[in-house]
Amino acid sequence: MSMQVLYDQATIAARIATLSREIRAVYPDGASVHLVAVLKGAFVFLADLMRAIEGPVTCDFIAVSSYGAGKTSSGEVRLNKDLDRSLQGRHVIIVEDIVDTGLTLSYLQEILRARDPLSLRTACLLSKPSRRKVDVAVEFIGFTIEDRFVVGYGLDFDERHRNLPYIGVLEGEA
Ligand code: IMP
Ligand code: MG
Repeated sequence: MSMQVLYDQATIAARIATLSREIRAVYPDGASVHLVAVLKGAFVFLADLMRAIEGPVTCDFIAVSSYGAGKTSSGEVRLNKDLDRSLQGRHVIIVEDIVDTGLTLSYLQEILRARDPLSLRTACLLSKPSRRKVDVAVEFIGFTIEDRFVVGYGLDFDERHRNLPYIGVLEGEA
């Protein structure tokens, strides 16, 4: 197994600084934004993104699973942990680590839209558009990447590598 660095710490930090300003610019002055992070992969991205967004910001967590121990989606999404608070009247942003087939995100958008938020948008750190199976709207994208399996900065392969401070491509593992 070998690891190739795709985006180093400085590159990620710079992109998040810009992304946070892009996000803030979309909302009315002084509006509070409510970040809904998708566990577990998005927790590192959330921590950096949340601190970069100026003004009032709150957060909540939801956990879903769509992948087994391997690299391919089962196509089935399961809700493992629901939100603590209502979304009613809030400007909600779903915070995802990566949008691959789009199945997880389309499921989340559907169940969260039904909860009557003031607005619902999505921010993902990474997007693999060539892998889409469903057409989902993603308003804020950190990096658009090729069809490669990436780890680090919260992303895992079989629960490993989430602690890497960079985003890397794992090669030579099943
Ligand atoms: P989707 O439902 O196929 O869009 O997959 C979304 C989820 O699959 C993400 O939230 C990740 O947890 C996982 N995933 C997809 N691609 C990768 C990858 O390249 N590395 C690590 N996890 C991935
Ligand atoms: Mg994962």
